Amino acid sequence: MADRLDGTVALVTGASSGIGEATARLLAEHGAAVAVVARRKDRLEQLAAEIEKGGKRALVIEADVTEQAQAAAAVERTVAELGRLDILVNNAGVMLLGPIAEAPLEEWERMVDLNVKGVLYCAQAALPHLLAAAEKKPRRVADLVNISSVAGRKANLGSGVYNLTKFGVGAFSESLRMELAKRHVRVSLVEPGFVATELGDHIRGELQEWARQRQAGIERLESEDIADAIAYVVTRPRRVAVNEVLVRPSEQEF
Ligand SMILES: NC(=O)c1ccc[n+]([C@@H]2O[C@H](COP(=O)([O-])OP(=O)(O)OC[C@H]3O[C@@H](n4cnc5c(N)ncnc54)[C@H](OP(=O)(O)O)[C@@H]3O)[C@@H](O)[C@H]2O)c1
Repeated sequence: MADRLDGTVALVTGASSGIGEATARLLAEHGAAVAVVARRKDRLEQLAAEIEKGGKRALVIEADVTEQAQAAAAVERTVAELGRLDILVNNAGVMLLGPIAEAPLEEWERMVDLNVKGVLYCAQAALPHLLAAAEKKPRRVADLVNISSVAGRKANLGSGVYNLTKFGVGAFSESLRMELAKRHVRVSLVEPGFVATELGDHIRGELQEWARQRQAGIERLESEDIADAIAYVVTRPRRVAVNEVLVRPSEQEF
């Protein structure tokens, strides 16, 4: 049985599209008030209106989480306006694939800035609030969910720097999980396979066809499939910590 999230507050980064958007919507359905964070404010406002129509609170926060001050301000505004922070879903990410030898340095910097530093900035700002929430009703447990990838478990041709960032997220999550276990902040890693989102749209034009071929003949996951996994993780009873969830499309072999 899933525990309800009534009386709790969740912050989802990268909530303007894809997995983050679906996750914010689903956590609100489970009863949480949700802070939705990303750069495209218009998309966040549409989502917030939909969540509020369903009778739950949504707070729109336009922020670039690669800027430490903006990441910290997003967390502080959430706590100031919604009262607490029980769940952080560190989801915002970018995947710029291609051979390492010919890649522009700027692409590597974008991936490290968002997939690694953005995750760290949000975690660092959120931890005192998650620790406080873990001592309070209604759940006496809090959740930090980091979104990694199959690419965080298996390196592959053409995804070296993306692999580096997601392997890093996995290592960080496991160490933090051990550190916080006794304090009831559960640190979890969710690792999607191919999901139909905007993620691949940012790959350089000349590599688009190659990137599409990697997924050819595979029915991709929907964002809602991953949101479902995240909701499963954060609605377990206090005694249960789901440390890691790897979700591939049924047809994805690698
Ligand atoms: N799709 C897949 O196949 C797949 C597979 C494995 C793992 N993942 C992971 O899942 C996560 C979500 O990706 P997705 O597939 O849902 O892709 P997506 O639709 O492109 O979503 C990425 C989100 O990150 C936000 N974002 C980008 N830069 C940002 C910044 N500087 N500050 C704040 N937010 C920022 C984007 O919003 P704005 O542009 O509005 O800021 C968007 O909401 C990523 O971590 C990705 O690595 C995806």
